Amino acid sequence: MAAPVCCLPNDDLASRLVQKIAQTVQDKIPEQFLHKDGFPESKDVAELWTDSLLIDLSLLSSGDQDEIVKFRSALSTWGCFLVKNHGIEGSFLEEVIEVSRKFFSLPFEEKMKYYTDDIFQGYDTDAVCQGLDQQKMNWNDRLFLTMYPKNKGNLKAWPENPSNFREIVDEYSKEIINLAQGLYKAAAKSLNIKEDSFCLEKEGVILSRFTLYPKCPRPKNVLGSKPHLDGSIFTIVLADREGLEVQKDGQWFKVPVIPGALFVNFGDFGEVLTNGIYKSTMHRVVTNLTKDRLSVTAFCTMDATEELTPLTELVTPNRPSLYKKFKVCEYKEGVCCKCGPGENAIDAIKLEFPLL
Ligand code: OGA
Ligand code: NI
Repeated sequence: MAAPVCCLPNDDLASRLVQKIAQTVQDKIPEQFLHKDGFPESKDVAELWTDSLLIDLSLLSSGDQDEIVKFRSALSTWGCFLVKNHGIEGSFLEEVIEVSRKFFSLPFEEKMKYYTDDIFQGYDTDAVCQGLDQQKMNWNDRLFLTMYPKNKGNLKAWPENPSNFREIVDEYSKEIINLAQGLYKAAAKSLNIKEDSFCLEKEGVILSRFTLYPKCPRPKNVLGSKPHLDGSIFTIVLADREGLEVQKDGQWFKVPVIPGALFVNFGDFGEVLTNGIYKSTMHRVVTNLTKDRLSVTAFCTMDATEELTPLTELVTPNRPSLYKKFKVCEYKEGVCCKCGPGENAIDAIKLEFPLL
């Protein structure tokens, strides 16, 4: 995909990194990050995440009916859940966090070796289109890598420092590929469609994003990540602190960090493939006054050349297709450069059909 116009030249990179800004600004946050009127409060409903939105993957994969019903209900109402018993060791998840934190603590010149002019590969601050005047910037820096198939991404974006980064992230990629396959199968089972309806082997891609959200002197006016929907089938999130929030029926809810569990949200491509049965979750990340936050997200998505449309088995006379056919690359361009505040790329592909 061509580099969007919003990328600044390499020379300007260091000065726009949020980590750098955070070290120097005290409480004078640059205007472009400030939401002057603040943003809506969130609720903390702990029981949600220990009950109806906590999925046990081992039960799900063994065909446990109650768990399948719970999974379907979580995805058709919230579009997200926490997953436990997913097969990845808690101690290994901690290693992934640790090595990612070590990367972000390297000197800026070292990290900048992994800058690329493709906004979905390598190290940079969060790319928000600056041509749209009212667009506020997100308070985070990130490293994008393609986990699967690895050679479809830019291999130069893979850090050589810390020295064990590649080894650990390669291992994590294998675990994520396995988990993604388990979740694809579970999603198909829960919809009573062919097991390989969603499938990594065909044109699946897993893009990972390592994000550092520095601590922020104005957490009531600055967002780590503005409300958005993901351009993925689903996204798997590993984080070392709270900060992620999801929206349901206009209300924001905090997502807790439960050691060993991972957060999964459906994205726009998942909503389209399921013809709207499973929802893409609106989410945001808030900032924290005293602590920074590290997350590793894995976007389970499709190759940029793929054309997406609802799965034929999920289109019926009673439920006609709710989305136009579109190419993944067209959607990505829409996300980066066309959507203004409050607009979402998926709106451009929705068809207006009343549900019968
Ligand atoms: C994202 C995202 C959540 C997080 O990268 O799209 O929403 O917790 N990340 O960092
Ligand atoms: Ni997201």
